[in-house]
Amino acid sequence: MSDNHQTTTDAQTPTGDDSDPIVNVSRSLEDLSKEATTRTTSRSDRTLIETRDLDVYYGDERAISSVDVEIPERQVTALIGPSGCGKSTFLRCINRMNDRIDVCRVEGQVEFDGKNVYDEDVDPVALRREIGIVFQQPNPFPKSIYDNVAFGLRVQGLDDEVDERVHRALERAALLEEIEGRLDESGLELSGGQQQRLCIARAIATDPDVILMDEPASALDPIATSRIEDLIDELSEEYTVVIVTHNMQQAARISDKTAVFLTGGELVEFDDTDKIFENPEHQRVEDYITGKFG
Ligand SMILES: Nc1ncnc2c1ncn2[C@@H]1O[C@H](COP(=O)(O)OP(=O)(O)OP(=O)(O)O)[C@@H](O)[C@H]1O
Ligand SMILES: [Mg+2]
Repeated sequence: MSDNHQTTTDAQTPTGDDSDPIVNVSRSLEDLSKEATTRTTSRSDRTLIETRDLDVYYGDERAISSVDVEIPERQVTALIGPSGCGKSTFLRCINRMNDRIDVCRVEGQVEFDGKNVYDEDVDPVALRREIGIVFQQPNPFPKSIYDNVAFGLRVQGLDDEVDERVHRALERAALLEEIEGRLDESGLELSGGQQQRLCIARAIATDPDVILMDEPASALDPIATSRIEDLIDELSEEYTVVIVTHNMQQAARISDKTAVFLTGGELVEFDDTDKIFENPEHQRVEDYITGKFG
């Protein structure tokens, strides 16, 4: 796997600035579409997550407006849009993380595998086992590397298989080689990029169906970013990945579908990533992705 990372790193640094989480850099559709065409999209088109007429409010303020979207299984869906347009809010609806915010109210439907996650009989804790989340800032528990990854397994009572699953998750998260022999050390002693991969290992240890990622690489350097991108590509063979990013090149590189949110929490365009980055339907989308506003 490390060879693979090396290759991608070399291939991804031609312009020098493409790892920065900034949006106000002018770029042409032509450059973006070069990134977009590198991804193959021969995958299942079965919808795993579907929102219908989704509105989200914080008090009286509406953060998400009538969003209908169908997120395909085992593909990478990128959510892009300017700051404050509701990307994190939308992502958190999918596994009901917004439940934890008192003033937040959700209307409409979020179906996961045909079942509305807001139905009364859905247990949000069980839901989050199937739909894991990774945040912008890596947040390992103040525990050993091993215990971080084992945490969810123990909560689920999977005690017999902990050892094997911890190793497998660390391997899949492309971290095992680097930290072999150090599993008893604190997760907080790892570098930022390693901590983020540890959080990904923790999220996949319980074998969820979906991994939500909210700007998982924006605090990382270009090499760590490229490792995370490679990892996302690998994970999407088995998992459905929904990722928020401010980095247009990253969205173009790693995703199959792209959802463009604009101010007011409106989903303006949702389509195959190559279509969005080569020939978007809406002028506002083109202006946004080419850095004319952000
Ligand atoms: N906990 C909260 N309480 C009240 N309002 C909130 C809360 N979280 C978000 N909002 C508001 O909801 C809107 C959408 O915020 P959100 O964090 O989803 O945007 P975002 O697209 O993720 O932005 P960014 O790119 O800066 O992360 C904003 O107007 C924000 O102020
Ligand atoms: Mg956000």
